[in-house]
Amino acid sequence: MTSDQWQTIKALPQTPLVSLFDEDPDRVANFGLEQAGIYFDFSKTHLDATAVQAFDKLADELDLAGRVNALLSGEPINVSEGRAAEHSAERGTGNPASVDNAAMLHQRMKSLIEVIETGVLGDFTQIIHLGIGGSALGPKMLHQALKLGDEKYELAVVSNIDGAALEPVLERFTAAKTLLVVASKTFTTAETLLNAHAVLDWMREDGVADPLGQVVALTAAPEQAVEWGVDETRILPFSETVGGRYSLWSSISFSLALALGYEAFEDLLAGAATMDQHFRDTPWAKNIPALAAFADQYYAQVRGCETRAVFAYDERLGLLPDYLQQLEMESNGKSVTLDGEPLALQSSPIVWGGIGTDAQHAVFQLLHQGSHLVPVEFLAVVEPGHSLGPAHHHGLLLNCFAQGAALMAGKKSDDSHRNYPGDRPSVTILLEDLEARSLGALLAFYEHRTFVNAVLLNINPFDQFGVELGKQMANALAADDGNRLDASTEELKKRAFGPGQ
Ligand code: F6P
Repeated sequence: MTSDQWQTIKALPQTPLVSLFDEDPDRVANFGLEQAGIYFDFSKTHLDATAVQAFDKLADELDLAGRVNALLSGEPINVSEGRAAEHSAERGTGNPASVDNAAMLHQRMKSLIEVIETGVLGDFTQIIHLGIGGSALGPKMLHQALKLGDEKYELAVVSNIDGAALEPVLERFTAAKTLLVVASKTFTTAETLLNAHAVLDWMREDGVADPLGQVVALTAAPEQAVEWGVDETRILPFSETVGGRYSLWSSISFSLALALGYEAFEDLLAGAATMDQHFRDTPWAKNIPALAAFADQYYAQVRGCETRAVFAYDERLGLLPDYLQQLEMESNGKSVTLDGEPLALQSSPIVWGGIGTDAQHAVFQLLHQGSHLVPVEFLAVVEPGHSLGPAHHHGLLLNCFAQGAALMAGKKSDDSHRNYPGDRPSVTILLEDLEARSLGALLAFYEHRTFVNAVLLNINPFDQFGVELGKQMANALAADDGNRLDASTEELKKRAFGPGQ
């Protein structure tokens, strides 16, 4: 523990949820906050006024206000890499020079979309977007959430080095009609570049005379993309200070903006800006990202919860749990503090989840009766994403609300097999509609929540050195330069590729 205030927080009375409702008749109003058409219900968490006060004090001790200011004004808060983290500048919140630069780069992206729309570059109706991690998860998740199905462009996002991911797309698509979008912040990522070469070969084999003429690159390393062969006019750069998992606000969303229309991208940014302002200007006790992080830290440090589950009761949000896994686990899965000292707290929870109601019939058993205490997050949307009539959507939402109620209330039984302990926490996030604007606000909420968690943990959420070692070892295995790895790994290699490989 880094501060005496953590001891105070650890010693908070552990009042059951139902008693918290009995004690405070205004609990729903006090812990239900609204912003940008999204209602966040924290009333089914164990936060009460005393706990919020205690976290408020911890936040002051850790200078959360100063850290938020440093984040939003473009100071180099990514200390291990010596740079700023300027994703919010992409949506107009931040250092004026960075905001202007982002706006200029967005304008460039808009102009390229307009050029593509004229047809001078080709008669494109299909887009293959290649990228991995932050260069794919955001656009893919947003496209699934926002597409109506009648768009001019068919979009396929391919990440994996497994050819089984790319091959079916190549079988379905027509080379002459395909725009290849290579999304990579560094433009060195092995999976993305291997897939890009495979698509170029496929185009060539299918008679496309100039495959590179059908390529757009999205990157913070434009010189690498030029070297790779992409024409400068079709390179859409973004700033090095925008982290990969925070990059959907940049040109990384080019394919999405082309597929859904540039206006959708602008709405996404506008929604995020609303949440930025709320985050910057609201006292912590009513600050939605801060309150969510207080609950996260309460469950991690006080109740020892090692995971948090996210269930979207909406098919359109099916990829959100994957997106949040990267955002939270790659940001806050660290074991050292900002000063490089061992972290004495539990870092990012393991984020997992799925889709409701499917998950109810698969994993909810553990949530209701398992020995783990898992804080659950439910997401639902008031406006349905289909026109099948009210029965489906009512059923969906009622199931979602019933789960939160059941987790909290539980049900006593003399038969221990049929006993539900209850007092299990959840947060419900209810969106009025699923539009680019509300999604922008929602995703900015998650980013800021992740940042507050990092401040409370005193860690740097903006580097990701943990992913490097695996990449280095994969390269070492591929190089086959005579250097041997451990015996187990050598045996696996021999079995897969034969002796001497
Ligand atoms: O391997 C992790 C990572 O670096 C992520 O942080 C990043 O989003 C992803 O790989 C892709 O990297 P790039 O955009 O440079 O191809």
